Amino acid sequence: MKIDKRNLVTLEVTALGFGCLNIAKSYGPPADKAKAIEIIRKAYESGITFFDTAEVYGPFYSEEMVGEALSPFRKDVVIATKFGFEIDPVTRERLGMNSHPDYIRQNVERMLKRLRTDHIDLLYQHRVDPNIPIEDVTGAVADLIKEGKVNHFGLSEAGAATIRRAHKEYPLTAVQNEYSFWSRDPEHEVLPACEELGIGFVPWCPLGMGYLTGKIKPGHQFHKDDMRFSARFPRFTQEAIIANQPIVDILEAMANAKGATPAQVALAWLLAKKPFIVPIPGTTNLKHLQENIGTINVKLTAEDMQELERAFANVKVFGNRVPEALAAAHDIGVSIGTSSVGTHGKSPLPKNM
Ligand SMILES: NC(=O)c1ccc[n+]([C@@H]2O[C@H](COP(=O)([O-])OP(=O)(O)OC[C@H]3O[C@@H](n4cnc5c(N)ncnc54)[C@H](OP(=O)(O)O)[C@@H]3O)[C@@H](O)[C@H]2O)c1
Repeated sequence: MKIDKRNLVTLEVTALGFGCLNIAKSYGPPADKAKAIEIIRKAYESGITFFDTAEVYGPFYSEEMVGEALSPFRKDVVIATKFGFEIDPVTRERLGMNSHPDYIRQNVERMLKRLRTDHIDLLYQHRVDPNIPIEDVTGAVADLIKEGKVNHFGLSEAGAATIRRAHKEYPLTAVQNEYSFWSRDPEHEVLPACEELGIGFVPWCPLGMGYLTGKIKPGHQFHKDDMRFSARFPRFTQEAIIANQPIVDILEAMANAKGATPAQVALAWLLAKKPFIVPIPGTTNLKHLQENIGTINVKLTAEDMQELERAFANVKVFGNRVPEALAAAHDIGVSIGTSSVGTHGKSPLPKNM
C-alpha cells in the first residue's frame, strides 16, 4: 500500500508509523518472538516505514524484535528509540531515571546492538530527567549525532520550556507526547511551541490505549498483566468505560458518515490537525493493523473537523489520562492544569546559567 510521506523537519517518514510497545509486555503478556516479528514485518510490507520503540519496552524485548524484524530492510526504514531509564543490562531490572551524558553514550552502544544497526534515525529522551540539565542531555546527543551514531534528536512528555531550552542547544526533530481525540493536553502549550519552532510532533497512544476504537465495552476483561488494569489507568475502570462512551459515540457517528471505523476517524483526526503530526498506533493484531492503515483513505474535511470539535466540546472526559504515579514523571506544562510559562521546566538549569 502507498502511504503518504510527512516530514518531521528534515526526517521523512510515512504519515502513519508503527508503535512497538504492544509487542512487549504492556497490554498483556509479550507477543512471542515469531508473532512480534510477523506483525512488524507485516507493517513494513503494508507500506509503513516508521517504527517507534524504546529501551524500556520489555525492557529491551521490543528493541530486540525491531532489530531482528527490520534488519533485512534496514536502509528502507526509519527507527526511533528512547533512552532515559536506568535498566540493569543483565537482570533487566528498572532502576529509575538516568539521562547522565555518560550513561546515554553507554546506552546508545547497547541499543545499536539490539537494533542490529550502526545508527539510530531518531533518538528521544523518554522522560525529562529532574537531575540532569537538558542542555547536558542535548549536548551528549549532539556529540553522538556528530559521530554518526544518531541522526536526529527528540523529547518525550516534555513541556514547552524544556523544549525551548533543548532546541536552542541543538535543533529538535520531534516531540513525542500523548495526544488523541480524548487527551488534548498538548493543545495548550506544546503543539503551539512545536509549530512556532518548526518541530515535528509524534502523538503517542493515538487510539487512547484502544478505547477510541469503540471495541472496549463495559464488562471488558483485561488480562492481569494488562497495564490499563494492573497500573490502574483511571480511564479503564468500569465506571470510566461507561462514562466515556459519548466520546466513542462522536467518533462512531463520523465513522458511519465516512464509511470508516472509529479507530480510523481517531487517527484521521490527528492527521488532519496539523501536517507535522505523525501518529504511531500500536497493535499485535494483523486485522487491527490493516484497519489502522486504512486510515489513509479517510479524509476529514474542515467541516468534519468542526463537527467533531463541536461535539467534543459538549462532553466531559472522565478520569485522568495516566495514574498519578506516572503523571509525576511528566514535565511541567505537559498536562492540562500545569504551565511551563515563566519557568524553566522540570530540568535543572546548568550551573553556569
Ligand atoms: N513516549 C511515550 O512515553 C510513550 C508511551 C506510550 C506509548 N508510546 C508509543 O506509542 C505507541 C502507540 O501507543 P499505544 O500502543 O500505547 O496505544 P494506542 O496505539 O493508542 O492503542 C493501542 C491499543 O489499541 C489496540 N488497538 C490498536 N488498533 C486497534 C484497532 N484497529 N481496533 C481495536 N483495537 C486496536 C491495541 O490492541 P491490539 O494489540 O489488540 O490491537 C492496544 O491495546 C506505542 O506502541 C509506543 O511506541 C510512547
